[in-house]
Amino acid sequence: MSQPPGRTKNPRPGARRIHVLLDCVGDPLSLLLQRGIHRSEITITPDAGSLPPERVREIVRGATAVLAPLTVTIDAAFLDAAGPALRVISNYAVGIDNIDLAACHERSVLVCNGPPPMVEPTADIAWTLLLATTRRLRAGITLAESGSWGGYDSKLLLGHRLTGGTLLVVGAGRIGAAVARRAIGWHMRVLYTARSEKPDLHGPPISASRVTLDAGLPLADAVVLTTSLNSSTRHLMNARTIGLMKRTAVLVNVSRGPVVDEGALAEALHAGRIHGAGLDVFEHEPKIDPRLLDAGNVVLLPHIGSATVEDRMELTRICIADIANVLDGSAPSFPVDTGPAI
Ligand code: GLV
Repeated sequence: MSQPPGRTKNPRPGARRIHVLLDCVGDPLSLLLQRGIHRSEITITPDAGSLPPERVREIVRGATAVLAPLTVTIDAAFLDAAGPALRVISNYAVGIDNIDLAACHERSVLVCNGPPPMVEPTADIAWTLLLATTRRLRAGITLAESGSWGGYDSKLLLGHRLTGGTLLVVGAGRIGAAVARRAIGWHMRVLYTARSEKPDLHGPPISASRVTLDAGLPLADAVVLTTSLNSSTRHLMNARTIGLMKRTAVLVNVSRGPVVDEGALAEALHAGRIHGAGLDVFEHEPKIDPRLLDAGNVVLLPHIGSATVEDRMELTRICIADIANVLDGSAPSFPVDTGPAI
């Protein structure tokens, strides 16, 4: 797997077209200007993610570089509309499931993303959801704010004990490792699934073990999904796999919505098949399955895993830097493998 070598296009200064297709946190314009890109070469379309794809294709016609949000689909039609001058797509995310990598490879378009600033804030949101669902935070807040709380009751809103339990991280990469690291504070046994062994997770203090999904699910008190979305992880959590979880366990998803079959999850929650679910991502964003909205113990967030000022500013810096690096003829810092080495 490798990046294509990239085209040795060298347009005359001023002839480049850099499209920023979202309202980046920070000041993308200044960052581009600082890298010697002229104002007339830059177009910012802050709301491209909510425009129809045909309109976005018109906008990017003749683009040399594109900074894209995860809500814009970069497929063959997009790339063909942009045309042969396109050299680099910089994705304002770590996930790259909105991009047809093979189509980029075929057209020698480089793809970059921004993993580092996504790691810690997303792990924090995973733990926020883990604690919130385990301890039934949503029901507690609703009751406290309702004015109808009758006072201390020894059986009110009993959750489950996370300390000393077992955490299963599904698809342990950088974010999964950060989720696992936080489990040390709760003295948890950590299991993980991954395509390859993660030696860094095996030694103390995490002392994790790699398991298969089917072996890990029945043991886990908390299941956190941090896998990327691809054809083998779509609906990885479905009626069968959710059925393997303990009745007292919680499921947290901070990866991509389609990793979970939302219908099956809603059914399991309504049937009390698992204790709860915390979701930051959904199958058909921004729509949320109404059966999830009225399920008992769910905590739902609007895809804010990496939403901190500091981390999103850093993401802007990384994405702009890699566009400028490619336009300067240097290697990007965060390239994504787009296909077989050629
Ligand atoms: C956010 O969801 C990302 O992939 O960065």
